[in-house]
Amino acid sequence: MGDGVGVKRTVEHQGEAKTPTQRSLTFETPNSRPTADAMQQFAESSVRYFPARLFGPLRSAVLSKRPPWAASGAPNDRNGYNSRMTRDQAIHLLREYVVSESLIRHALAVEASMRAYARHLNEDEERWGLVGLLHDFDYERWPEPPHHTREGAIILRGLGVDEEIIEAILPHAEWNEIPRDTPLKKALFAVDELSGFITAVAYVRSTRSLMDVDARSVRKKMKDKAFARAVRREDITGGAELLEVDLDEHIERCIAALRGVRGELGL
Ligand SMILES: [Fe+2]
Repeated sequence: MGDGVGVKRTVEHQGEAKTPTQRSLTFETPNSRPTADAMQQFAESSVRYFPARLFGPLRSAVLSKRPPWAASGAPNDRNGYNSRMTRDQAIHLLREYVVSESLIRHALAVEASMRAYARHLNEDEERWGLVGLLHDFDYERWPEPPHHTREGAIILRGLGVDEEIIEAILPHAEWNEIPRDTPLKKALFAVDELSGFITAVAYVRSTRSLMDVDARSVRKKMKDKAFARAVRREDITGGAELLEVDLDEHIERCIAALRGVRGELGL
């Protein structure tokens, strides 16, 4: 496969009726999915085709990489515009970036556990839920460190998502070396691996049901090194310590949370 010039020649030779914007995106990404820079260039060149008077709000949303919902509404004191993303919008974003149904289910499981901890600690359940839903939304496109979480943060900032949500997501990846120093950051770290582990335990039960999982069965599986070996046990025990909760209580709270969404999890 040639370079960008080769691709350009091919397109022109074939005489495809492509707009300049379509061509430029093709040139930027001959072999792979568009990079963030390519997408931004594409967006910037695209808006030239939208007269500002007719497409003002859409044009400014495209230019700032913000969706129309973020460009309107009440000003937010941290970002200058409305950043109260709703759950539906977060789900929409998640599905835009994630194809894998198992990663979607993981997001829903972590969301449920985060919501349970928000209720337990009298915190903002909607906001904590969004952190759970979005914490891995960039993983499928950027699975490798240090890009996972950092690419997502760039996207979320571009969308105007509240900085507190972004700052809570970043430290769940150890390579960012950001202290987990707030209840929100601690909770995400504490429930992430555990929620995945609990769903794995339920999956191998004969009934394949979360109703047949309890703290005892989870702890027993934690000792089985061959089971779900990708899940770091020290992150589960360390998470409970970070939150200053008893490990059994921590596991039971997450199990109860996951049971609440067992229909979506298929368990
Ligand atoms: Fe995760």
